[in-house]
Amino acid sequence: MQIDEKKLAEYYSGAPDDISLDDVDLTRIPRHVSIIMDGNGRWAQARGLDRTKGHVAGVDSLREAVTTSVRLGLDVLSVYAFSTENWKRPQREVDMLMHLFATTLLKELPLFHQENVRLRFFGDIEALPAQTRNVFEEGLDETADHTGMTFALAVNYGARAELTRAARLIAQDVAAGIVQPQDVDQALVESHLYTAGLPDPELLIRTSGEQRLSNYLLWQLAYTEFYVTPVMWPDFSRWDMLRAIRSFQGRHRRFGGVVSA
Ligand code: IPE
Ligand code: IPE
Ligand code: MG
Repeated sequence: MQIDEKKLAEYYSGAPDDISLDDVDLTRIPRHVSIIMDGNGRWAQARGLDRTKGHVAGVDSLREAVTTSVRLGLDVLSVYAFSTENWKRPQREVDMLMHLFATTLLKELPLFHQENVRLRFFGDIEALPAQTRNVFEEGLDETADHTGMTFALAVNYGARAELTRAARLIAQDVAAGIVQPQDVDQALVESHLYTAGLPDPELLIRTSGEQRLSNYLLWQLAYTEFYVTPVMWPDFSRWDMLRAIRSFQGRHRRFGGVVSA
């Protein structure tokens, strides 16, 4: 996406000591950044608060991450908000999260309009409580014509479920005679993933220091650069995004080949 350099410089004024806009090459910003937003519960507990307060605080970080990504000219920002395993959490926390997703999305629709952001979901949103699902569908409808950055929210998402679903859809097409077994290739598999049509993430950020994928985008992250920061998600700021991109730009990506001189 196009960068508005004036807006970007203004957005990134008042830099801390260790990082500024000058530390990143604006011509080499990743097209797709994905974030595992982790540490809301620990952030709250460290302050003597209920875990759910951490999720509420995390919404502010997410709003900032969307704006930051638009300013930096990303094509896609995707975030992991709720996994297929997160249903195991106490019912009260699950209910609170589902409610928070719905109310937040409604509240942020004006931002998506203002910034021309197109919404998308990764995961089985059909299985969500009706209120949440309805708001998600409204969000999809209302932003379908937007031509700016794609913002993808992974909710009720699990990579194993996604790959299993793709296998099932392809098997159905084979059984119906629409696809021949020898025509099943990587492009066909990709076209049955929730991420169909999007570039793979070039950079994956995980907050709260955990060094695992937790069933996130197993296929799509095959050659993604990882950046793990100890910062808890509610504390993640536009500067942390810049630190992550600076780190990314210092990497040698080889994709199995050799480094060119
Ligand atoms: C991430 O924060 C948000 C969700 C998974 C919904 P956590 O709730 O996992 O926070 P921690 O990891 O327990 O601190
Ligand atoms: C991964 O975080 C899922 C999301 C951030 C939505 P978890 O907190 O659920 O992951 P684990 O349990 O620490 O692996
Ligand atoms: Mg966690």
